Amino acid sequence: MGPKKPIMITKVLEKAINEQIKREEHSSRIYLSMASWAERNGYPGASNWLYVQTEEERIHMLKLVHYLNDRGGMAVIPSLEAPAPKFKSLLDVFQEVLKHEEYISASINELYATCVKEKDFTSANYLQWYITEQIEEEKTVRSILDQIKLAGTDKGGLFMMDKEFAAMAIAKRAALAQSGGANAVT
Ligand SMILES: [Fe+2]
Ligand SMILES: [Fe+2]
Repeated sequence: MGPKKPIMITKVLEKAINEQIKREEHSSRIYLSMASWAERNGYPGASNWLYVQTEEERIHMLKLVHYLNDRGGMAVIPSLEAPAPKFKSLLDVFQEVLKHEEYISASINELYATCVKEKDFTSANYLQWYITEQIEEEKTVRSILDQIKLAGTDKGGLFMMDKEFAAMAIAKRAALAQSGGANAVT
């Protein structure tokens, strides 16, 4: 018997991708809460950066919605828990960002393993973009954390750090615009 034609996505993988859709949307909401906190607490640069991050995560979610629907699955738009509204400090915010990104990386790895188990190599291939993206995200957040730690509690240091954030946010927004958003071919 020849190979079966793997047109439709399997139910197992559909469920797993829907989980990831939820997690990416949840990421977007967490960063939105952080952006709003930073906006109210004297960090306009960090706030801008987090607002762009919010958009990025929303695009990560949308890409998976399109992908799942294109493959004959059905994307489900989930309800979400409210994110934490308050943070102790900018350091606290970015420690949480790193923890969350590490969790998302693990989640993408799991999803990749499911693709392989389901012998859906098209989806595995699609997920490569997410794997690379997670490496970038973790690297960026770790370097931001290093800088915040260097600034410590020094007001001048944190002020300078926030200026850096403002510049990073501009570059990040430009990169996002150039990437073509949710419909970009990956
Ligand atoms: Fe993401
Ligand atoms: Fe992310």
